[in-house]
Amino acid sequence: MKARGEKIAALTAYDYPMAKLLDEAGVPLLLVGDSLGMVVLGYPDTTHVTMAEMEHHIRAVARAKTNALVGGDLPFKSYEDVDGAVANAKQLIAAGAEFVKAEGGVEILPQVRAIIAAGIPFCGHLGMLPQHVLEEGGYKIKGKQDAEHQKLLNDAKALSDAGAFGIVLELVTPPVAKEISESISIPTIGIGSGVDCDGQILVTQDLIGAFPWFTPRFVKPKVNCAREIKSAVTTWKSSVVAPEK
Ligand code: KIV
Repeated sequence: MKARGEKIAALTAYDYPMAKLLDEAGVPLLLVGDSLGMVVLGYPDTTHVTMAEMEHHIRAVARAKTNALVGGDLPFKSYEDVDGAVANAKQLIAAGAEFVKAEGGVEILPQVRAIIAAGIPFCGHLGMLPQHVLEEGGYKIKGKQDAEHQKLLNDAKALSDAGAFGIVLELVTPPVAKEISESISIPTIGIGSGVDCDGQILVTQDLIGAFPWFTPRFVKPKVNCAREIKSAVTTWKSSVVAPEK
């Protein structure tokens, strides 16, 4: 798609009905992100998500047998060494993922190379890394300082050279995201990183207003599902407690 100049509109999915709906809407790439920990499982951040939880939700999405490419996140601490990374990536593929994604650049390069050598398509994730939120003390924009800017460029090149098929750029300053996108041949999929990435990904709950307790600043929900659900339920409840005779 990048070679054809087509932008990639990707979304997250964590269950069968949403995967089917997004596929029917023509979304070409679905990610079972570890954001599922926050928007589905009620954890405060993604560091609590386990392999078992990822596998469970990947299986549900895979049952939708989508035309969309389906990938899954390697969760926190599941890719600390090469053997563990490959074993866990194989488990996500066995659950139904067609690619895996992990957070980091040159520091995880041995794991990335080993995953790709095992025949598993790999997507990188640079910029703000949610699995590092506790060490970093929050979700911070990346690429403002020269050193950060240079590291992002180096990491993107290293992942691309290692054989990654794409890279998510999360909360990267738009000029740096643009520079990265122009400097590598594989697609960048941005989230909160400006319009010049080769594609965009959002957490579906944010896009449809289904997790109203927190919406990232860069998302403008297209529908307010939370309000619609509450309204439908309130109407139905009234009809139960005070039925019209
Ligand atoms: O976990 C996730 O859903 C992600 C996307 C937001 C890119 O990594």
